[in-house]
Amino acid sequence: MQFLRPLQVESTPYTRLCKTKNILTVNGQFPGPTLYVNKGDEVFVKAQNQAQYNITLHWHGVKQERNPWSDGPEYITQCPIQPGKNYTYRFEFTVEEGTLWWHAHSDWARATVHGAIIVYPNPGTAYPFTMPDGEVPIILGEWWETNVMDISRDANQTGGAPKLSDAYTINGQPGFLYPCSQQETFKMLVSPGRRYLLRIINAVMNEELFFSVSQHPIILVGTDGSYVKPLPTDYIMITPGQTMDVLLEANQPPNLYPMASRAYSSAIGVGFDNTTTTAILQYDGPLPHPSSPPIPTLPSYNDTQASINFTKGLRSLADDQHPINVPLQIDTHLFFTISVNLVNCTDNPCKGPFGKRFAASMNNVSFVAPPSIDILRAYFYGIRGIYDQDFPSYPPETFNYTGDDLPENLLATGFGTKVKMLEYNASVELVLQGTNVLVGIDHPVHLHGYSFYVVGWGFGNFDPTKDPLGYNLVDPPEETTVGVPKNGWVALRFRADNPGVWLMHCHLERHQSWGMGMVFIVKNGVGPGAQMLPPPPDLPNC
Ligand code: C2O
Ligand code: CU
Repeated sequence: MQFLRPLQVESTPYTRLCKTKNILTVNGQFPGPTLYVNKGDEVFVKAQNQAQYNITLHWHGVKQERNPWSDGPEYITQCPIQPGKNYTYRFEFTVEEGTLWWHAHSDWARATVHGAIIVYPNPGTAYPFTMPDGEVPIILGEWWETNVMDISRDANQTGGAPKLSDAYTINGQPGFLYPCSQQETFKMLVSPGRRYLLRIINAVMNEELFFSVSQHPIILVGTDGSYVKPLPTDYIMITPGQTMDVLLEANQPPNLYPMASRAYSSAIGVGFDNTTTTAILQYDGPLPHPSSPPIPTLPSYNDTQASINFTKGLRSLADDQHPINVPLQIDTHLFFTISVNLVNCTDNPCKGPFGKRFAASMNNVSFVAPPSIDILRAYFYGIRGIYDQDFPSYPPETFNYTGDDLPENLLATGFGTKVKMLEYNASVELVLQGTNVLVGIDHPVHLHGYSFYVVGWGFGNFDPTKDPLGYNLVDPPEETTVGVPKNGWVALRFRADNPGVWLMHCHLERHQSWGMGMVFIVKNGVGPGAQMLPPPPDLPNC
């Protein structure tokens, strides 16, 4: 059992892009402190809110077995921690191993309130690869010159798209392409001939990213707290929410090698931050003069093929020490469409296209969080009228989901606080179908409380007869966040063995703000090991 140092959320002056402003930080750090744990550890984290905003913290990728009370999404599993108040999160690392992360799960606070979680193997067990000589978290972030909390508020008021960011960052710095960041650009120091583990986290708000290191091929060995079969590659594509562990051999002539990251933005006509963030891989010892190889070539921002070429190589390690358990008999089939929508504005025209307001939906329900109590508490205490249990298992209307020139009436969506009830131990197959309503784009979908196996994916409309024949049931990757390809689908499988209230949402923050999410309630099973734990005494009130 570990009592970690309290995490204090506070407002701290911070300099980026040559400007100093106050941002929300944890313990005065940006990115926030790294949590180091071993598999099997139970931790207690006291969160003290010294900021002027409501805050919650989420432990992204931690299963929170039977304990949704520590999961964190505001108004889903807890009321936010109000300014001046505390809450202690308690959780165990039961099966996760590798890199996870934590972030605020209230409004847009996660832009700066986030940090790495490193889960080492159980004492007595080892990595399934040669022990690296060193390791370093690489946290990819997104930076606005203005207060992010104002950006989300403004977008919500006008109904338009939120303002684009001003830079991406690597470990808090935009990098040497920004004169004011040159001195402070993140440097990873390496010794020739050594081998390093990079724990890469996409903590960006609104874009998937390509990432690469100049003249250093890398080997992917883990994603989302699970191991994968070693995958050699020149670049990765990582979605917001995902973590990727990669090995790097420092086997090049000593020099300063740039690493770089920039957007993979698959949608046509959708604005995005088209800047590049950099850091430096610096060999120790004498360096040549003039030095510095060029910035690595990254795929172009709209290179969907490059994204797929990387992603399709992901396989679970699936060896004797790391067995997998893909459900083979399915009793619960679900099919959810994911769409970006436009809805009419009530009084003044909105700032979205055609004077309308952006919305987003799953199965044509745009998720609305309850205003003054969380769904978990309402469920546990049987408080009525907070949510409805009728989230549809299939879209209300069948159409050519990925077709061009879809009829205009499809742009609209309904709104609601709907949950999908799942029986304990249900064996679930969930197909997430991207649509071309308004615009086709990749959606990184994250499920709380679970990991899932990505058994299949494809472009176009999912075909329930043909596509399952191509499923990988042998070594599908195990993930907690999956990129649903632009105008395509993914098929996920998991066993609903974790009772509780679990949010699933797009990890593009703007889509989540527009309602691209839903909630599963997994019922209790029989016996104490299959029941949700009772609430802790210090649960915040709304
Ligand atoms: Cu990483 Cu619901 O979030
Ligand atoms: Cu999305």
